[in-house]
Amino acid sequence: MCIYNGNRSYLNVFEKEVTMKFGHFDDKEYEYVITNYNTPLPWINYFGQDGFFSLMSNTCGGYMFYKDAKLRRITRFRYNNVPRDYGGRYYYINDNGTIWNPGFLPMKTKLDSYMCRHGLGYTIFESEKNKLECELLCFVPLNDLCEINQLTLTNNSNETKNITLHGVVEWCLWNAVDDQTNFQRNWNIGEVEVDDTTIYHKTEYRERRDHYAFYHTNVKHDGFDSDLDTFMGLYNSWCDPSAVLNKTSYNSVASGWAPIASHMFKLEIKPGESKTIIFQTGYVENPEDKKWEKLHVINKEKAYELQNKYSNEEQVLQAFNELKKKWVNLLSTLNVKSDNPKFDRMVNIWNQYQCMVTFNMSRSASYYESGTGRGMGFRDSCQDLLGFLHLIPEKSRERIKDIASIQFEDGSTYHQYQPLTKRGNADIGGGFNDDPLWLIAATSQYIKETGDYSILNDPTPFNNKEGSEKPLIDHLRASLNYIITHKGPHGLPLIGRADWNDCLNLNCFSKTPGESFQTASNFESGKAESVFIAGMFVLYGKEFATILKNIGNDKEAADILDEVNAVEEATVKYGWDGEWFIRAYDAFSNKVGSHECEDGQIFVEPQGFCTMARIGERLGYGKKALDSVEKILTNDYGVEILHPCYKEYHLELGEVSSYPMGYKENGSVFCHNNPWIVIANTVIGNNERAFDVYRRNCPAYLEEVSEIHKTEPYIYSQTIAGRDAKNYGEAKNSWLTGTASWTMYAASQAILGIKPDYDGLMIDPHLPKEIKHAKVVRVFRGVKYNISITNNSSGKYQMTIDNKSIDGKIIPYNKDLTEVNVNITL
Ligand code: GLC
Ligand code: GLC
Repeated sequence: MCIYNGNRSYLNVFEKEVTMKFGHFDDKEYEYVITNYNTPLPWINYFGQDGFFSLMSNTCGGYMFYKDAKLRRITRFRYNNVPRDYGGRYYYINDNGTIWNPGFLPMKTKLDSYMCRHGLGYTIFESEKNKLECELLCFVPLNDLCEINQLTLTNNSNETKNITLHGVVEWCLWNAVDDQTNFQRNWNIGEVEVDDTTIYHKTEYRERRDHYAFYHTNVKHDGFDSDLDTFMGLYNSWCDPSAVLNKTSYNSVASGWAPIASHMFKLEIKPGESKTIIFQTGYVENPEDKKWEKLHVINKEKAYELQNKYSNEEQVLQAFNELKKKWVNLLSTLNVKSDNPKFDRMVNIWNQYQCMVTFNMSRSASYYESGTGRGMGFRDSCQDLLGFLHLIPEKSRERIKDIASIQFEDGSTYHQYQPLTKRGNADIGGGFNDDPLWLIAATSQYIKETGDYSILNDPTPFNNKEGSEKPLIDHLRASLNYIITHKGPHGLPLIGRADWNDCLNLNCFSKTPGESFQTASNFESGKAESVFIAGMFVLYGKEFATILKNIGNDKEAADILDEVNAVEEATVKYGWDGEWFIRAYDAFSNKVGSHECEDGQIFVEPQGFCTMARIGERLGYGKKALDSVEKILTNDYGVEILHPCYKEYHLELGEVSSYPMGYKENGSVFCHNNPWIVIANTVIGNNERAFDVYRRNCPAYLEEVSEIHKTEPYIYSQTIAGRDAKNYGEAKNSWLTGTASWTMYAASQAILGIKPDYDGLMIDPHLPKEIKHAKVVRVFRGVKYNISITNNSSGKYQMTIDNKSIDGKIIPYNKDLTEVNVNITL
């Protein structure tokens, strides 16, 4: 459906007859309930918190891994499979020849009713076919390395049913890349052990691995399979596995080829009766000297322990309730009740939830990120903290140290690290010159949230080298110093491989197909500069100066501010195009993102960041820049990353010009930078526009156009095709995007204006007229603030605490209080 009418103004899709929903929000249960399995794309959910992670789609597809989606993959997933999204943990119910699955796939048998409830860390399927009801509860318990699938069948008919049930998972041979490439070896190494409740996957355990996985049931099975080809039949698929069709199992013991785990049950279920089976996929590590029970027999002690913990329904229910309780507690740290339910549900539930997932996964494992390409990004992980810190300050501290540990002494840094080893990733290397500054963003936010400056003293190594530890504050110094010592002809920061925009590769000059734009450097100009990094430097340089002042280093703070001023001046002089900020200077010092260019005349990133940094504020730059953003870049779904899209490949610009027009970095709504525009608008006091941009992008508002938008309506996606794209409005790459964190930050700190600050909690709301009342509960450094905001849009600000008028916008932190009642009128 192409709604773009050919000029730069946008049509309001929301007034068109294109709405189609596939489910609804259940805010009370914190769930999104999918009632139509034919979603436009798989709509997925995540389980797990500390080591065992799972992805599950609305058709029961997905995969599991331990800590690292590349190196420790537990179950197999084929990303570009045909059909899409086949492979998961599947339950086949054969009821008198009618074979169906609670999640619709893989059999695709039409269900009489279907519901998939994606909740926080769990998914429940509730389906029915021919008066047989199935409830399947799936989750990863809080403190254990396993996924529970509890399946209950209830016979709602008047006759006894004889059911054959198969449960099945397919093992991955651990290293997910090797698993998909090295078949000459892999088809020889698969090994399992089987008893009458459990199939153990122990490939490579005999040699260098200390871990195995298992698929267990709490009752004895009536048969099993552990060899894929036997279970399926060589030319069959998940839609017609031989064992299932024949209501049998072959008791196959895998040796090489593709090991799987399948348990079969013959169940007699009387009218009105229910039967429950608990399936468990678990992961176990053993110390070297405890690996074996005897020759070739693995030590199962820990597995038994895990199995016994979830062997009955009460245990499962208890673990499930603990998980739910944990989320309710976590989310109580920040809660808003306003007259806008969509805003509330995003802030209170889904946006925070997505922040947790991006914190855990970075950009590694989703349905779009294969978990094999990227480790944890330096820049990505720092930004992920911004939206999530209030929920888990302790974990954040550890994360900041992990990230800082891949930095080099000169302040530059590896771009990524693998979560399992925590070492910098040499394949991608470094040279992304925005990276170092994000460390200041994350650390300053940590201090503001916790008030704990001691993090600055944490001994932190460079490049993980033992003995190289320096206090974390030296890493922040190194970060700034790197920018100060790497400037180009206009006194602006050098861009290196790229800045936040991975695709603006100004020193790449790639002509070789397949060459990575991010790592290739065929012409190292030493000249290409980034106005975006200039904006970051000014913003975070000032932030660091404030920290220095707060700890009594006035002299150093003043020195830093001199450097900030120099970059600010350079930006005012060379970074302004008349109506907006320029994006960069290329390797020949030509402008990028200027009206002088043929394509790519305006980019969104510097408009957001330079306005947040208040560069050229006296001259009205921010206001002008944001007017241009509104006029030129805004469409139905938010703000496009640039305009006009590049029509041709530009050697001197790199990957940005490689994408077809309107996609990804070449002119889509790259959602990650939309919240910068929201925040920037609040900085210049344009509250209506701030909320307008927020709303355009917000998944809860896009639910009604799911047919166009396609990805999950409860979660942000990375990119929404722009007006120049053929599929305008179509989103891709849901879940793992910095959008989550930055939008959370924009909604809570800019729109609601609840800002942790060094000395207390600042409350500086920028609500649009349509939100007249908001009651916010915020727990900040252990004190509970009940904040009631009345928005008369009067332009006047008044704060009272326990009915006493207060000057200014900061509530000084007082550790002796437990609860503070604040009233704000605007
Ligand atoms: C991806 C990357 C992020 C980058 C962005 C823009 O989201 O994960 O690091 O900033 O693309 O290129
Ligand atoms: C590609 C993508 C970009 C992503 C990068 C990660 O360049 O377009 O969004 O950040 O790959 O390496």
